[in-house]
Amino acid sequence: MGNTGLKNIIPGMILARDIKDQQGRLLAPAGQEISHKLIRVFKIWGVGEVHVKDPEDNITENAEELATPRHIREKAEKITRYRFQYNDLNTPFVFELYRISYLKKARQLQTNPDTGYFYNTLEADEMTRKKPGIHKKKRVNAEHLVNKALRLGTIPDIYYKIIAAINDSEASLNDIAGIVSKDITLSAKVLQLVNSSFYSLRQKVDTLTWALALIGTNQLMTIVSGVSAVSFFKKIPSKLINMVGFWEHSIACATAARLLSTYYPERLDSERFFVAGLLHDIGRLIMVQNLSADYYDLFKQARSEEIFLFAAEAKKFGLDHSEIGAQLSSHWNLPDSLSTMIRCHHFPKHAGAFHENAIVNLADIIINALEIGNSGEFFVPVINPRVCSELSLDKNMIQPVVNEIEDQLADIFEIIYGSTE
Ligand SMILES: [Fe+2]
Ligand SMILES: [Fe+2]
Repeated sequence: MGNTGLKNIIPGMILARDIKDQQGRLLAPAGQEISHKLIRVFKIWGVGEVHVKDPEDNITENAEELATPRHIREKAEKITRYRFQYNDLNTPFVFELYRISYLKKARQLQTNPDTGYFYNTLEADEMTRKKPGIHKKKRVNAEHLVNKALRLGTIPDIYYKIIAAINDSEASLNDIAGIVSKDITLSAKVLQLVNSSFYSLRQKVDTLTWALALIGTNQLMTIVSGVSAVSFFKKIPSKLINMVGFWEHSIACATAARLLSTYYPERLDSERFFVAGLLHDIGRLIMVQNLSADYYDLFKQARSEEIFLFAAEAKKFGLDHSEIGAQLSSHWNLPDSLSTMIRCHHFPKHAGAFHENAIVNLADIIINALEIGNSGEFFVPVINPRVCSELSLDKNMIQPVVNEIEDQLADIFEIIYGSTE
């Protein structure tokens, strides 16, 4: 770190300390990359000297980073900055998310130097060899697409019976247990989940009635929705999307939404957030499976124009996957609040229940930032400033949530995705 006169500052340097004006108002926080615009701001406010980090210590001086070869750090930083290009790194919460994501990328690059800009959704060479598709609009009707998807397979009857029983105030826990016990796979999954890190119970639960008494009917809905959705769509693979990656992204988002919801004591029904996270991108599966040729062009278009995939969907089809997912969840008789969370996971400001939608939105952004699984989105979606204030986001909450996700993910993934036949 060193003092640098304004004349010697060059864009790309990183501020080592906060820059304040004479009234103590923050002009730029430590960690911010210096741009041409920022240099002009310094001149306007009469800042003559700033502390900058040595390029070697670009983001953080932590030991792990310093042990990483410089070329790996530079590549990790380049990729992470590119993916975060629409985010405001001046926001401490966003910067912390960026920092964790950058460190993860550096670790990946050390193990596999070929980890780069490309997801395996489309092969890198194909992406660059073929020209972007024609920018022709093709209007899509959400209901039509959902009906078409629903005709491709059947949701087992037991799903509807359980949802009906959960929604029936007259049905007892024993009635519900009776329905569940008719499905061996589902019964096994209920027991697996109750005994997993998801609940961290001390005792082993070995009967269905006991399990249901412990987890409650909402949690049952979580398992039923998850297992049903995964087994329904698992049978309809697509060349365009890696299904394991897609469900890893969805299950991680579900876990993150559930964990984040527990930060807000008034949100008691954390299972609802799990289901919303699990199904938030399901509309994209329907789009990919039903519009494959057009969707292939869309992937390329979004990457070559450097725009969000959900924005490219809206541009081409007149709507994005969130609307299709919301309509599917209504078809499956899930509660309206759930459909709303799915519909608003990219734009929580458009809905009445801002707080709930903001949690799912944030969970999706965190999982995208950390590249856990892959739903096709390449750039890290932007955190709306209102989400930051509404959820009182504190940068110190990210690392514990990330650690917890890493602890729970393998277990939950196995339960939801493993052997769902
Ligand atoms: Fe999405
Ligand atoms: Fe997502």
